[in-house]
Amino acid sequence: MLTLTGTEVILVAPVGALAVIIALLLPHLVKDWDDSTGISQFNFWTPVEREYDYIVVGAGSSGAVIAARLSENPHLSVLLVEAGSDGTFITDVPALVGTVYGSSLDWNYKTRADGQACLGMVHGQCSWHRGKVIGGTSTINGMLYTRGNKADFDYWAQLGNYGWSYEDVLPFFKKSEDQQNPALAKDGQFHSTGGPLPVSDFRYETPLTQAFLQGAQYMGFETGDVNGESPFRFTKVQGTTKRGARFSTAKAFLSPAKDRANLRILVGTRASKVIIRKRKARGVILHRNGKKGFVRARREVIVSAGAVESPKLLMLSGIGPKHQLRRHGIPVVQNLPRKGPLTSLSGAEALGFVKSGLSNATWPDLELLLLSFHPAIEGGLTYRSTLNLNSKQFSQFSDISFQDGFTILPYLLHPKSRGQIRLRNRNYTSDPIIQPNYYQDPSDVQTLIRGIKLAFRLGHTKPFQKFGTKFHYVSNPSCRHLLYMSDSYWECAIRHFVYNVYHDGGTCRMGPQGDPKAVVDPKLRVHGIHGLRVADASIMPELTSGHTNAPCIMIGEKAAQMVLYES
Ligand SMILES: Cc1cc2nc3c(=O)[nH]c(=O)nc-3n(C[C@H](O)[C@H](O)[C@H](O)COP(=O)(O)OP(=O)(O)OC[C@H]3O[C@@H](n4cnc5c(N)ncnc54)[C@H](O)[C@@H]3O)c2cc1C
Ligand SMILES: *[C@@H]1O[C@H](CO)[C@@H](O)[C@H](O)[C@H]1NC(C)=O
Ligand SMILES: *[C@@H]1O[C@H](CO)[C@@H](O)[C@H](O)[C@H]1NC(C)=O
Repeated sequence: MLTLTGTEVILVAPVGALAVIIALLLPHLVKDWDDSTGISQFNFWTPVEREYDYIVVGAGSSGAVIAARLSENPHLSVLLVEAGSDGTFITDVPALVGTVYGSSLDWNYKTRADGQACLGMVHGQCSWHRGKVIGGTSTINGMLYTRGNKADFDYWAQLGNYGWSYEDVLPFFKKSEDQQNPALAKDGQFHSTGGPLPVSDFRYETPLTQAFLQGAQYMGFETGDVNGESPFRFTKVQGTTKRGARFSTAKAFLSPAKDRANLRILVGTRASKVIIRKRKARGVILHRNGKKGFVRARREVIVSAGAVESPKLLMLSGIGPKHQLRRHGIPVVQNLPRKGPLTSLSGAEALGFVKSGLSNATWPDLELLLLSFHPAIEGGLTYRSTLNLNSKQFSQFSDISFQDGFTILPYLLHPKSRGQIRLRNRNYTSDPIIQPNYYQDPSDVQTLIRGIKLAFRLGHTKPFQKFGTKFHYVSNPSCRHLLYMSDSYWECAIRHFVYNVYHDGGTCRMGPQGDPKAVVDPKLRVHGIHGLRVADASIMPELTSGHTNAPCIMIGEKAAQMVLYES
């Protein structure tokens, strides 16, 4: 499952308040940074022991949680290795995160061009951002906090993943949570306080949020908490923030744990291979400061390198589809499939989950997201390169350069198209081939067209009209041969302008013994290998209906629990 795509419906309104709000907020954010982290103190220089009980590869949304939880037991030694650095102050300030994309804190992949999608991007390639920094993608993401819903996890369980139903996973969401909104905090069935991860209403809010929520009510949608009783709601966004500052998993989980004597955190350290002998993971080959070394894992290696790098690391270690490994001359340790649904955002203010009516699933298949900006709001300085838009595509926004405006982004929550991650070669420093196969399944296009129409209607409801909102009636320069706003026009626009929200997952899919698509079992153990687990977005058997950071944190919590108490 490689995917999550959307396309934009841009509505331009005079929202003069926006710039002012950001200017007022920044000083607070900077102040919050001053007293809140200590990430630069991560023990980079401490010598590495030759062996640990557990080695966790990747300090991202899941891995940071696992290392923090395992090291709560002082009798266990834990090594956490992270390829990226210890971050910068910029990632702490939500409004500045745009400058991170394409920097050294970003793996900055590009998709393989396929002539079917990303057609309006430079070389036909979409950007594929991933955090390469402590906290992983949670350090660079849009911070939206959505869990997914009962139907999502009950479906995981229904596939044979014992222990992953909604009832099973809800306690792990709550275990992390420190809900800052007093009204939600009182709802003990779905929320809790006192966990390491602050969750709060976003601080910045333009008057658009109210218009979005009221407009949704005009259309007959409910408003309220999307992480509670029903997902079919519109809501002001909640994020992994506190007093305006970002809480990555590094800040939430590792900062309090970093001085434990039994936990080593090594940044700037990359794993290139898990060494497997006699069907058991023995340890990991690490590269650090130009040196290479082997560190032994007495008990387990836990791979939490994310949906792109986890499958790559397994393949480099001889675990993966036989034909692929042989092509690169890698001895096959375990033949396992690797094809799944592979499927961001800053400035998102409000969202809603809806059904397109085209699917009979019990979960929402579309999200409508309100962004308080549009692609040319800063003249294209960051946004254009973040998306890798070519100049022709970008030209459709030139008349609104530097003007206020907002976007309602409809996007697919459950794309039917399936992508693939493949090895480019056997060099661990090479980017893998990311082939998303966007829109390979035509129903994805149809669902998105429904989403565009819903967004269009919402943008024209009375509450938005109060702002004098105007739709940006400039057609996509690559689709002018088609009747404007017809379904075929929208399909063309969708194939040219892809707005990836980077909810990639399912590349080391979880499934019971005998499931031909599964790489790990319901306890996240790689099928056929001892002492090796995968725990991150790549294990999702189907994407959750929402943004994927909170589910990855839950996966980390549950993985740690299983390692500690259920082995
Ligand atoms: C731009 C963007 C915006 C997003 N916005 C949101 C949002 O607002 N809300 C939301 O819920 N979700 C959002 N997401 C998605 C969400 O953040 C991710 O799904 C989630 O963080 C993935 O967690 P993970 O643990 O699977 O991987 P990651 O968090 O990516 O962690 C993997 C870690 O492993 C490290 N690593 C990789 N390979 C190696 C190796 N060989 N050796 C050592 N270390 C290695 C990486 O550097 C990284 O730190 C966004 C994603 C992006 C890219
Ligand atoms: C609806 O459900 C039926 C039976 O479960 C299934 O065969 C069909 O493919 C589903 N339709 C869609 C559009 O998903
Ligand atoms: C792997 O790729 C890197 C970067 O391209 C290169 O410097 C290195 O020599 C390569 N290693 C091998 C073994 O080919």
